[in-house]
Amino acid sequence: MKRWIVFAALCFCILNVKAFVIDNDESCESEEKQQKMKCPKHYKGYYRQPTATNNQTKMWCLRVVMVNVSVSEQAAQQACNAEGAVLSTFASYDEQKHIVRHASKYFRYNNITQGSIWLDGVRIEQCRTLNVTQQIAAPCNDKTKVFDITDPRTDPKYAWTQWYRTAPSWAYWPIRTEEYSTYPTVDSITADCVQMWIYPGNDDRNGQLHAIHCDMAVPPYDFEKALFTNYGYVCGRPPVLSFY
Ligand SMILES: *[C@@H]1O[C@H](CO)[C@@H](O)[C@H](O)[C@H]1NC(C)=O
Ligand SMILES: *[C@@H]1O[C@H](CO)[C@@H](O)[C@H](O)[C@H]1NC(C)=O
Ligand SMILES: *[C@@H]1O[C@H](CO)[C@@H](O)[C@H](O)[C@H]1NC(C)=O
Ligand SMILES: *[C@@H]1O[C@H](CO)[C@@H](O)[C@H](O)[C@H]1NC(C)=O
Repeated sequence: MKRWIVFAALCFCILNVKAFVIDNDESCESEEKQQKMKCPKHYKGYYRQPTATNNQTKMWCLRVVMVNVSVSEQAAQQACNAEGAVLSTFASYDEQKHIVRHASKYFRYNNITQGSIWLDGVRIEQCRTLNVTQQIAAPCNDKTKVFDITDPRTDPKYAWTQWYRTAPSWAYWPIRTEEYSTYPTVDSITADCVQMWIYPGNDDRNGQLHAIHCDMAVPPYDFEKALFTNYGYVCGRPPVLSFY
């Protein structure tokens, strides 16, 4: 009896869907496509407008991974690669909000006041120079051009509007950012990677980007500079086909 009801219900559904397909072919088809794509466990999916600037990406899955030891940017990349993903970044306010919320929750739970997480992004070759003249000239002094991302499936246009107001400084290690009006100096080492600040009690910095030396796992490492200590990274990958 029960089986019969389920079967009847199923038939009704199929008929209904069919009717809908005939009614409104296009919208039903796209809905059907969306249902077939699914993000793996721990990943959250976001729809993106496919364009030439994001390699025609329609859906992208993001995972915020929090760790309790300092990792280099390269180690973060490898960790993402190991699960079929790449070090990634956000393409919209919603994606950014997801990352900030997830990381902030971890910080609050572990009583961490401030820190950072790795995102995709690398200083462009031309600007990896200690020549100050070049550093302070275009394109190296342009927030929208001085960094690029390594994975083409995210359009970084929105991310580059989220630099902290003094970032990317001709950001150097050791960290002496906005307090130093005389930067850059020739003895500095370039900061070529991108971190997002996680600072739940500070709306000015929480969720904002800054540039930093890529290898945080190797000294010089200043624990006094809690703000730059790395607590995680963001992996991104395409969805998988779902047969359910
Ligand atoms: C970008 O899209 C092209 C064409 O679909 C594909 O061959 C290539 O693998 C994509 N690149 C990445 C990194 O996904
Ligand atoms: C860090 O996390 C790992 C796994 O989550 C755990 O085994 C390890 O004890 C932790 N280390 C510290 C110092 O909390
Ligand atoms: C965080 O701080 C609270 C209050 O001081 C304490 O009870 C809790 O155990 C701390 N949690 C961790 C993970 O250290
Ligand atoms: C720095 O770059 C400028 C512009 O490209 C160049 O004219 C200058 O010679 C460079 N200075 C040094 C010390 O290499």
